[in-house]
Amino acid sequence: MSPLSLLLSIAVFAVGVVSQAQIPAFGQCGGLTYTGSTVCVTGTFCQWDSDFFSQCVPGTEPPPFAGPINFWFPFGDSYTSTTFNATSVLPNIHNPLGNPPFPGFTGAGGENYVGFDTETFNSSVIFTYNYAYGGATINASLVTPFEPTVLSLIDQVNEFLTSSVASKPATTPWTSVNALFSVWIGVNDMAGSYFEPGDRGAFANTLLDEYFTLMQRLYAVGARNFLFLNVPRVDLTPLIAAEGTVAQALLKSVITDFNTRLAARVASFKTANAGVKTWLWDSNTVFTTILSAPTQFGFVDAVSFGNTGDFWGNNFHPSQAAHQIFAQDIATLMSGSLWF
Ligand SMILES: *[C@@H]1O[C@H](CO)[C@@H](O)[C@H](O)[C@H]1NC(C)=O
Ligand SMILES: *[C@@H]1O[C@H](CO)[C@@H](O)[C@H](O)[C@H]1NC(C)=O
Ligand SMILES: *[C@@H]1O[C@H](CO)[C@@H](O)[C@H](O)[C@H]1NC(C)=O
Repeated sequence: MSPLSLLLSIAVFAVGVVSQAQIPAFGQCGGLTYTGSTVCVTGTFCQWDSDFFSQCVPGTEPPPFAGPINFWFPFGDSYTSTTFNATSVLPNIHNPLGNPPFPGFTGAGGENYVGFDTETFNSSVIFTYNYAYGGATINASLVTPFEPTVLSLIDQVNEFLTSSVASKPATTPWTSVNALFSVWIGVNDMAGSYFEPGDRGAFANTLLDEYFTLMQRLYAVGARNFLFLNVPRVDLTPLIAAEGTVAQALLKSVITDFNTRLAARVASFKTANAGVKTWLWDSNTVFTTILSAPTQFGFVDAVSFGNTGDFWGNNFHPSQAAHQIFAQDIATLMSGSLWF
């Protein structure tokens, strides 16, 4: 680094620490992608206008939302992800999913169950930190994701545990009482391994050992409320249907076996850990129910995808309309809880 650039970086650093420039009235003071000063000139305050724009407006800042605020930490794959970036704008009263602008980018091509449950079927204000990542498997060494940058369930839980959020900072004051942890994983694990030789039951146990080691680590930092979502009917996705009925039947049986083992693990996790409350949402049965009688749920049929009225948003993911039904059903399952 040249002496001049060193001097400049020290100067910039000093400005950042000592005092931020004062923004005049109606100047920008915040927003996704904004990196300037957030300090408004006296007599004005920084008012949120949109995810991308806050400005200094004359007057006195209204008191912050008096609460209560509850918390939700989802983990999973593209069935859950909203492409939340945990190092960008955090969940706040204007956007309870934090970033990107609601409802985020989803496999559903619109709002997914996380959005619906956070903003529509919620019974309280929920700040949702969605660690789910598209394409995720439980352990990328056991089932390889579609690209190496995908964050596995292990990576996601580590991201939570190693961030300041895990230590319940003032910006994210979650507690064992007000925080819900949820996991919807397995779609990619099952679709990416069902055809392998060897004992699939033993492999399911290996996956579930790692899954529940992670749950135990969440428990260790205070997590007590757990929502588990089992593996849905991936065998009925248009993608797998195109592989033929033999493939579908095999995948269906592997998923059924995994879900049976998952239910047993959920029960033993609860028994082994004092103070744990669990909910298990049977996504597999919900998919079966809807896809056996799609028109009763407002869908054109069980196989079409990509158009309004289709259950499938694309050849591997349920649509926004399907997610709305899931979200309502999850809220019903958890009815009477702090969140729904
Ligand atoms: C997340 O946000 C931070 C801060 O804005 C940014 O530096 C980083 O590049 C973002 N990460 C991704 C994957 O977009
Ligand atoms: C549900 O969430 C929305 C968005 O944060 C909020 O405006 C609304 O008040 C919440 N509903 C209840 C009943 O708290
Ligand atoms: C992931 O799987 C690999 C391969 O079996 C194993 O060596 C590794 O320990 C697993 N990672 C974790 C964190 O369990």
